[in-house]
Amino acid sequence: MEDRVLVELALRMRERAYAPYSGYRVGAALLSASGQVFTGCNVENAVYPLGLCAERVAVFKAISEGEHRFTAIAIATENGGAPCGACRQVLSEFASDLRILLVDAKGHVRETSLQALLPEPFGPRDLQEVR
Ligand code: THU
Repeated sequence: MEDRVLVELALRMRERAYAPYSGYRVGAALLSASGQVFTGCNVENAVYPLGLCAERVAVFKAISEGEHRFTAIAIATENGGAPCGACRQVLSEFASDLRILLVDAKGHVRETSLQALLPEPFGPRDLQEVR
């Protein structure tokens, strides 16, 4: 799939964000190794800590549909912001080398990678070593 299509999906998902408290709307489009796309938006709650980031919504939708390997994610925000630490960690569980396309509300794209944003993740191997 072309990057531009993934970016467009993330921008469109941003419109579905439920972010009445922060006003920071986020859309995500996650591409699986088999070519399927799983989308997400952030979903906030009146009990503030219960909200969930767009990236994790997309990952959990994908896992629950049986997809476990991913190659790229597009993330749309107002200012092209990078994913939070919790989302980096969750993404790293399923993708060692993930391309990350950060797009702002004007459509400007900056490419980075999970390796660059989370160079030494805690992973399943760390648990095996102590078992
Ligand atoms: N948010 C995301 O959806 N993804 C991120 O990586 C950063 C933050 C959401 C969470 C919350 O709904 C709002 O943005 C402000 O933090």
